[in-house]
Amino acid sequence: MLAIIGGSGLAQLSNLEVTHRQVVRTPYGEPSGALTFGNIQGHEVIFLARHGYGLTIPPHEVNYCANIWALHSQQVSNVVAVATVGGIRSDLTPGTLIVPDQIIDYTHDRKSTFFTANNHSVTHIDFTHPYSEPLRQRLFRAAERAGEALVAGGTYAATQGPRLETAAEINRLERDGAHMVGMTGMPEAALAREMGLSYATIAVVVNPAAGRGSSGQGVKFENIQAVSHKTMAKVRHILEELVTLDGG
Ligand code: HPA
Repeated sequence: MLAIIGGSGLAQLSNLEVTHRQVVRTPYGEPSGALTFGNIQGHEVIFLARHGYGLTIPPHEVNYCANIWALHSQQVSNVVAVATVGGIRSDLTPGTLIVPDQIIDYTHDRKSTFFTANNHSVTHIDFTHPYSEPLRQRLFRAAERAGEALVAGGTYAATQGPRLETAAEINRLERDGAHMVGMTGMPEAALAREMGLSYATIAVVVNPAAGRGSSGQGVKFENIQAVSHKTMAKVRHILEELVTLDGG
């Protein structure tokens, strides 16, 4: 089954016909909210709002372990994460959708593994390619069918937040090879890999990163919501096509 983790612009999925909600208890505490079960185009899907249904949980306080554990406990096999980002690469302007293929993790002080000393022997997951390539390819096929542009590939820098970055930090991320910056990509992707879930991200560019373009003198929050609202309609479109593809 496919699960969708919605980010700050996607606290609910308007094209989801909700059948029921389920509170899942986990060994890691509370997920961001009850799981929402429903259908898109007749295909069963689970939705979870990463920041809570009232958008009350900041990126550094999301219980990523509980969220991924809860989805895994419901026989989820594929996870599409939707996440807003700031664009660092010059073509990644607000309103662009991109499926990253790499991650650089700058987060800290987040619980970032299920494999602790007391419940497992030492385990190292392979994370060379952090996203599921088959799921990424299905996203591109779905976007093509939906007639929506979806940029292929790019490196996602995961920052700790909740503050935005300085202009110098963005310059450093660019030198490191990052193309976009967000606050929720990690440890979510790594935990999904640890649980054996296929995971891919649709990143929604909602602002130029700090110091770039119209964010030269500061990131303008007033534009973010409008861009996000408009662009999430495209994401819903793509998801409607995704569920109809073999493998979900
Ligand atoms: N930086 C970090 N996270 C973000 C940004 C940004 O500019 N925009 C949306 N999420």
